[in-house]
Amino acid sequence: MRVLVTGGAGYIGAHVVRLLQERGDDVVIADDLVTGDVRRVPGVEVLTVDLASLDAIDVLSAGLREQRIDAVLHFAARKQVGESVERPAWYYQQNVGGLANLLIAMENAGVARLVFSSSAAVYGSASGAAITEDAQTVPVNPYGGTKLVGEQLVADAGRAFGLSAVSLRYFNVAGTGAIELADRARLNLVPMVFERIDQGLPPLIFGDDYDTPDGTCVRDYVHVLDVAEAHLAAIDHTVGGRGDHEVFNIGTGEGTSVRQMVDAILELAGSSLEPEVVERRAGDAAVVVASASKIEAELGWRAAHGLDEIVGSAWRAHVAARVDGRMP
Ligand SMILES: NC(=O)c1ccc[n+]([C@@H]2O[C@H](COP(=O)([O-])OP(=O)(O)OC[C@H]3O[C@@H](n4cnc5c(N)ncnc54)[C@H](O)[C@@H]3O)[C@@H](O)[C@H]2O)c1
Repeated sequence: MRVLVTGGAGYIGAHVVRLLQERGDDVVIADDLVTGDVRRVPGVEVLTVDLASLDAIDVLSAGLREQRIDAVLHFAARKQVGESVERPAWYYQQNVGGLANLLIAMENAGVARLVFSSSAAVYGSASGAAITEDAQTVPVNPYGGTKLVGEQLVADAGRAFGLSAVSLRYFNVAGTGAIELADRARLNLVPMVFERIDQGLPPLIFGDDYDTPDGTCVRDYVHVLDVAEAHLAAIDHTVGGRGDHEVFNIGTGEGTSVRQMVDAILELAGSSLEPEVVERRAGDAAVVVASASKIEAELGWRAAHGLDEIVGSAWRAHVAARVDGRMP
């Protein structure tokens, strides 16, 4: 199979590129390299294009035709929630505009198979220990809004030109499959705790008075290698021309509290720092854990890696970056 991976030089996309190559698929990447890095994907052809730019439709249509692409995995998006609150119009232009351009190019080139990177952010402040795909979707920030509109756009395109598509709603993606593929964004709990340890400062816990066993928020952490495997199952599930759109959660179904996560990282780092509990952050739901039953039943996928591997792999990549500067 010949696959176009948008955002393939990014954290999750590059993991998927590697798996596709390992199973013998041919890969081409489309990426503007703003947060992506070609060093993650040596030897892979990269079309350098901002998907939201005016010439993106022409560049993508030509690329899809010339490369005789069978299917597209669409990761390219801006993903900083805070930034999306400050620059909502730009976020919609980038994430929804970029997707619209991609869909027009796919229709032009007759490519009718797509996997779209959505997010648990579409559920907004939904709280629960087993959030199913039919839970209410009320995003609480523009980033989540772009993902929900993106899903709707994909579904509409499916009906219009026979696109067969899957949207995957990732929960908390973490860990790394290789040091050079690690996440470089300092936005999530794991890298934030690493940074505090580096600075000799206590890791922060935002609120310990939630209605959870240890009072701290509970989340569903899923290893990026498992997320990558889910994409192979999803793309194999699509069949061009069917006009269908299916939505799946990507999570483990297991909750881990912030305190459990922080303790696991401190232990691994051999740190004696005591976490410091500070005020709750606005908008944090108590428990956000996926029901992972639908994807297991329909695509046969389930997460295989545990918390130890998530934290251990991320920590090894962090230490390597400190030692030899392999990552900024
Ligand atoms: N990391 C997570 O925890 C998480 C959770 C839920 C959803 N997602 C989604 O998964 C996808 C991949 O996320 P990631 O963590 O790998 O992020 P990332 O920033 O590492 O990768 C995104 C890639 O897309 C590229 N890109 C972004 N906007 C582009 C544009 N307009 N045109 C061309 N290229 C563009 C970037 O250069 C980068 O290579 C995104 O759609 C994100 O919203 C991520």
